[in-house]
Amino acid sequence: MDGTTYLSDYRPYPFTLDRVALTFRLSPRATRVTAALSLSPREAGTPLHLDGEQIKLISLALDGTPLTPADYLLTETGLTIHPAALPEGAFTLQTEVEIAPEENTALEGLYMSKGMYCTQCEAEGFRKITFYPDRPDVMARFHVRIEGDAPVLLSNGNPAGQGPGWAEWDDPWPKPAYLFALVAGDLVATHGTFTTMSGNKVDLNIWVRPGDENRTEFALGALQRSMKWDEETYGREYDLSLFNLVAVDDFNMGAMENKGLNIFNSKLVLASPETATDLDYERIEAVIGHEYFHNWTGDRITCRDWFQLCLKEGLTVFRDQSFTTDVRLGPVKRIDDVIALRGRQFREDAGPLAHPPRPDHYREINNFYTSTVYEKGAEVVGMLKTLVGAGGYRKALDLYFARHDGQACTIEDWIKVFEDSSGRDMSQFKRWYTDAGTPHLKVTENFNNGTYTLEFTQETKPTPGQPEKPPRLIPIAVGLLSPNGDEVVPTTILEMTEATQSFTFTGLATKPVPSILRNFSAPVVLERETSAQEQAFLLAHDTDLFNRWEAGRNLARATLIAMSGGAEPDSAYLDAIGTLTAGTTEPAFRALALRLPGEDEIAQALFAAGATPDPEAIHRARRTLMRAMAQRHEAALAATYDACAVPGPYTPDAGPAGLRSLRLACLGLLSTLDGGARAKRLFTEATNMTESLGALGVLVAAGDAARELAAFRERWQGNALVMDKWFLTQLSLCPPGQAAELAETLAADPLFDWKNPNRFRSVMGGLSANHAGFHRADGAGYRFYADWLIRLDPVNPQTAARLSTAFETWRRYDPARQALIRAELRRIADTPALSRDLSEMTARLLG
Ligand code: BES
Ligand code: ZN
Repeated sequence: MDGTTYLSDYRPYPFTLDRVALTFRLSPRATRVTAALSLSPREAGTPLHLDGEQIKLISLALDGTPLTPADYLLTETGLTIHPAALPEGAFTLQTEVEIAPEENTALEGLYMSKGMYCTQCEAEGFRKITFYPDRPDVMARFHVRIEGDAPVLLSNGNPAGQGPGWAEWDDPWPKPAYLFALVAGDLVATHGTFTTMSGNKVDLNIWVRPGDENRTEFALGALQRSMKWDEETYGREYDLSLFNLVAVDDFNMGAMENKGLNIFNSKLVLASPETATDLDYERIEAVIGHEYFHNWTGDRITCRDWFQLCLKEGLTVFRDQSFTTDVRLGPVKRIDDVIALRGRQFREDAGPLAHPPRPDHYREINNFYTSTVYEKGAEVVGMLKTLVGAGGYRKALDLYFARHDGQACTIEDWIKVFEDSSGRDMSQFKRWYTDAGTPHLKVTENFNNGTYTLEFTQETKPTPGQPEKPPRLIPIAVGLLSPNGDEVVPTTILEMTEATQSFTFTGLATKPVPSILRNFSAPVVLERETSAQEQAFLLAHDTDLFNRWEAGRNLARATLIAMSGGAEPDSAYLDAIGTLTAGTTEPAFRALALRLPGEDEIAQALFAAGATPDPEAIHRARRTLMRAMAQRHEAALAATYDACAVPGPYTPDAGPAGLRSLRLACLGLLSTLDGGARAKRLFTEATNMTESLGALGVLVAAGDAARELAAFRERWQGNALVMDKWFLTQLSLCPPGQAAELAETLAADPLFDWKNPNRFRSVMGGLSANHAGFHRADGAGYRFYADWLIRLDPVNPQTAARLSTAFETWRRYDPARQALIRAELRRIADTPALSRDLSEMTARLLG
């Protein structure tokens, strides 16, 4: 395909770039950027190519002497200086360009958000700021001068002087351009400190717009906890005397790890009990951790090229997941992460966008910040840790930091560190990085004379461009239980390397019940013929919390699948739910176990089993099962609902959050019987956003929330982050028949500020999360969605392209729906002047 970049084409940059001096004279429509790049050629006679897009060249000089048009070639994508115009040794190239941050609606490069200047350079945004070798393997030391009338002027590194209308910054650590950041505006800081393990004092600032400063306390604490955890767990210390974190309202992604100046979507910073839910708090802490952890896994050691993205992202997601497990949630965190992995990554792997964690070609790199690179990338790191053990993992990571500090690395470097530190050959394991698709693992068992055998077969379906799928190394954690519930064989890691392979356990008195893939030891689909009784037994007795939940999930999924074909609710499942509700397992676990799989998960499972999902039938089955659960266990659910009321003032801690989560799970079930009475009461009485939004969602799902929605809007119309929830909740949870019309109504609402990515995502994400509403048989959902992608594309292609993944499941559905979606995708693809982002996505989606 034309404009495609291939991994195999990688060549080192033919110049070294030691230092960069930048000066910004800020102005909304005409910011001047001057750059001085200290370059030296690695080999004689090569042209100097600098990337540059949508920037106006004002002047160009080499060692102080202006270049003439004959010396260089200027195109839409960059500047090339002819070898004849270059000296033999080191030189300085000076450029001056003009850019218009106010007109930058794509939010990539230097742009404005509510009067404040900010930047987003990953992956290739720096080339919209100045002419530069905008690739991660070019690492340089930056000195930045900012001139402007904003009271606060920030960049990376340490302050190097300031006066009225100017500030200078110096970053001592060489870094690629994607980690550059600049922020200027009327901002206020919440200040804190952290003393590192070797006694260095670090100043911490959380910068927000005036008025938001009373919602920053939690973020500051989360940053301090992250810094401490990285010292204790990975031995990694912070390396500057200042750490700035800024919240902005217009941001394409969640947050960004710019060296010493992290920039965050304000929804991942600002929190107070009245405005943020427990889930928001949890997410804020995780993302602050994530971006902070990048300081070592991303900034100090970066990626050689963007194909290696999962080197920093997969590892850093693994680190943030471990952090949340350690400081907050414990083992239930794994369940949340697996639900997210299956909902996004397995879905991606099963459709036309399937790709390996390390792809080998792309057209637009922004389209590869995917669940496969992130979440599957994290799973692969987790498997490495399982294979070499906790001690072996720490040894490998110590070697990684010692060997590669200051470098731009590859997945090969990463694997080599594990090989060298453990003495193991990891060549088969590497397929997890290079092969797409989710392996399906079939298992059969045999018991004979005290010997128990598990036979596994692995198979991965072909994915786009990869028809052959050789067997992978799969770590399978297995434990065996005796029929009375005792664990007779504790968790053991089986290393499967063949397409079919058997493992034997001897000396068993009776046939055991196997608990397979404990803690979800590998990102595979486990297929096993089993009875509902056995699943119920595991739900009650397994010593592995993940597999207890998994057993309940298997039961729920199976009965929902049967019910969507007309069957009655399964009584083994209903019985098990009663035991669980009345039991004493931690509330957060019971809450997870009481929540039914989402409609998309049922559709995915039906498709994997060779059936065609019917969205309306799935929706009805799920509501019916909720009512059956409530009818069967009304008393226990009501008692649990009452018992889980958390007394006293709100804290976002995991304990009370778990109680609230269980309480809301009970509320959702009970509302199918009580006409919404409890939810209406909770909505009125709630003093925190978790319960007020939870109650609102329950009422929306019951189709009886008009008054509450109006009251909520009235109260919160001045708070953008809360209004995002208002849009999202009603659209994602409303009765599916109403979703498309509601989407039209909301898109006409004066508060629908569609150029703000959070608001746009609330509406589009709300619609696509309403599975049966989005997939309405007449195509109204698809049409609305495509209309808005087409409208957003010229304004913000990155966000438009990301949201197009709502269509990635089109092959699951019946021919009529497939035809409707294909027609919408073609309509998008045929739109004149479509962005590279969205045209790559539609081409891949259409296959
Ligand atoms: N480096 C990314 C942010 C990013 C992604 C910038 C894509 C430009 C393009 C950052 O570290 C990140 O991964 N952010 C995530 C949140 C994280 C907790 C997984 C995000 O923004 O969604
Ligand atoms: Zn990241």
